[in-house]
Amino acid sequence: MSNHLDSTSHDEDSLKVEERNLPWPTPGAIAYGGDYNPEQWPRHVWEEDVALMRKAGVNLVSVGIFSWALLEPEEGRYDFAWLDDLLDLLHAGGIAVDLATPTVSPPAWFFAAYPHARVIDADGVVMGFGSRGMASHASSEYRAACTRIAGKLAERYANHPAVAMWHVHNEYGVPVGEDFSAQSVRAWQRWLRNRYESLEALNHALGTAFWGQHYARWEHVVAPARTPTVVNPAMKLDWARFTDDQLRDCFRAERDAIRAHATQPITTNFMAHQSWNTDLWKWAREVDIVSDDHYLWSPDPHAHVALALSADLTRSVARNKPWILMEHSTSAVNWQGRNIAKTPGEMHRNALTHLGRGADAIMFFQWRASRSGAEKFHSAMLPHRGPDTRVFREVTSLGTKLADLAELQGSRVQADVAILYDWESLWAQDLQWRPSDDLGFRERMRCYYERLWRDGVPVDFAHPGDDLSGYRLVLAPSSYLLTAADAENLTAYVAAGGTLLVSCFAAAVDEYDAVHPGGYGAPLEQVLGIGVEEYLPLRVEESCSVDFGGHRLDADVWAEDLVLEGAQVRGVYRGGPADGGPAVTRNEYGAGVAWYVSTRVDLQSLAPIVQDVYADAGLSPAEHPEQVELMVRHGTSNDYVIAVNHATDATHLDLHGQDLLTGHETSGGLTLPGGQVAVVKSEATESPTEGTH
Ligand code: GAL
Repeated sequence: MSNHLDSTSHDEDSLKVEERNLPWPTPGAIAYGGDYNPEQWPRHVWEEDVALMRKAGVNLVSVGIFSWALLEPEEGRYDFAWLDDLLDLLHAGGIAVDLATPTVSPPAWFFAAYPHARVIDADGVVMGFGSRGMASHASSEYRAACTRIAGKLAERYANHPAVAMWHVHNEYGVPVGEDFSAQSVRAWQRWLRNRYESLEALNHALGTAFWGQHYARWEHVVAPARTPTVVNPAMKLDWARFTDDQLRDCFRAERDAIRAHATQPITTNFMAHQSWNTDLWKWAREVDIVSDDHYLWSPDPHAHVALALSADLTRSVARNKPWILMEHSTSAVNWQGRNIAKTPGEMHRNALTHLGRGADAIMFFQWRASRSGAEKFHSAMLPHRGPDTRVFREVTSLGTKLADLAELQGSRVQADVAILYDWESLWAQDLQWRPSDDLGFRERMRCYYERLWRDGVPVDFAHPGDDLSGYRLVLAPSSYLLTAADAENLTAYVAAGGTLLVSCFAAAVDEYDAVHPGGYGAPLEQVLGIGVEEYLPLRVEESCSVDFGGHRLDADVWAEDLVLEGAQVRGVYRGGPADGGPAVTRNEYGAGVAWYVSTRVDLQSLAPIVQDVYADAGLSPAEHPEQVELMVRHGTSNDYVIAVNHATDATHLDLHGQDLLTGHETSGGLTLPGGQVAVVKSEATESPTEGTH
């Protein structure tokens, strides 16, 4: 479906999707389980683990993520006996394995033999051994060692009946993405040469005429490490692309080493909205199944909305195919300032939201809590105190629920609305020296997403270059970087009858972080019917309001001096630097309509604006209780409504069918107690479109 072209198209050929029709790792069932690290425990504990996994309904575990030192105790000497034993044991227990390559954590011998393969950060500090993620992705020794161990594992276990899928590495780009080691800088120079071919083109693209940075020799081109003041932003943006490419090259090499022997699906776990170093539109095309890790950020009072955003984004990069929630937590994590335990029922709500938004696997970090090491205070499926605990009881009852929901496996989510999401725009907008540090990519993304979440409007995410014709409404909350080609795509979408809502600071720059010819937002000027003369950020603590057809909207941080080029004014600034000027505009263009919101309105203030936008798009969101999240999955002959009550009070829902979790018919509607979940099955209203959007 996607027609989005890579701006870094030099590697386009190797980015071809592998169209593989592979079986789901737990056929006909929702996968349930987590990371399993048995090397931390004596052999007799493994037997207990398998018995308790069965009790909990676990059917899939990820094994070996951190096992390199055991599997290859010395360079070239392998010990697979323990893994043979473990896989046989799991298989005998009916538990499938997602077998990992252990390359996120090379052994001590590796760094002793290849000390220059360590990562160097932007300040020139060498990352030492004794943690994880210390290896330079550009190191040829590291790459060779990774493909060797991946190939050995695949050769040995390709036909093991327990192995249902492969898990390459772990969270590429976390904790280390950027690497300023000598080999990385050499790889960067090669990458730039490949991308620009001539120094003239490089100098032009990176704007090196500014501050006298012109390059006359390739070997003089630096990497954007620490500099006395702001580093060249176009270079930093390319460096983000390079880093992403390097990581993906490493993934591909391991994947191909596995594929030479094995036929099972291959994945690597993403971090969706929490990732920075990986452009997941590109990554998703490289894996057989998309998988994602998500952790609640406890200072966020509405962390479940961030969770929903992450799940929708993951489903969207998966192009609506079933995906795996590879990790989340049963209760507290251990790496935040204050690690807040989940309240009773919260884990079930979290899991069901992921499921409702397309996940066909619910997995955790990790099965058994570790006694030692950096993560001993992290929750697990099996807590330190053992099975007679609240968390384990909830884990077991979630296993029962998911078994009751087996028929949802393979059903799809559909949305009429898309939010544009582009990692290149995230990389660019978060660079230094923007008009205001306080207008962030993620903040606007979240605000617009949360508005739709509260209104109960299902959304997909899309790349601005995608075919958007299947959507009634497209939102662009954070499109700071927008290429001329993508702006044309949006313009054509509106001309053909689409409705577009664009937020402030849009299309400020092109793919080189250069202001578009014609000024800020120029490529959208025609479709929006406005021009932007000047950005007018507000002082800290300053705010303004917008008169929107009698509604007083609260805004802060940002305003713009707009020039009307045919658009109607729908909101006027009251106070602030743009006092009296147009704040919100609407432009009829071709058969469609394009809106522009030139300031940072808050969640409440966005409500009246989107009501008018929904009307233009022909959408009429159904009334629903404020804190009840309703999600629909479409099967071949049934629809499933997943209802999650985030409030403490019971609520009555007009849902008719069979509640799959209780088995009861809900002919008079459903009363959902506070904090609880339900899944109501009814006859399909429309058939799902295969791979829509
Ligand atoms: C993930 C990581 C896991 C574990 C977990 C703790 O990001 O993949 O290995 O560290 O965090 O929350």
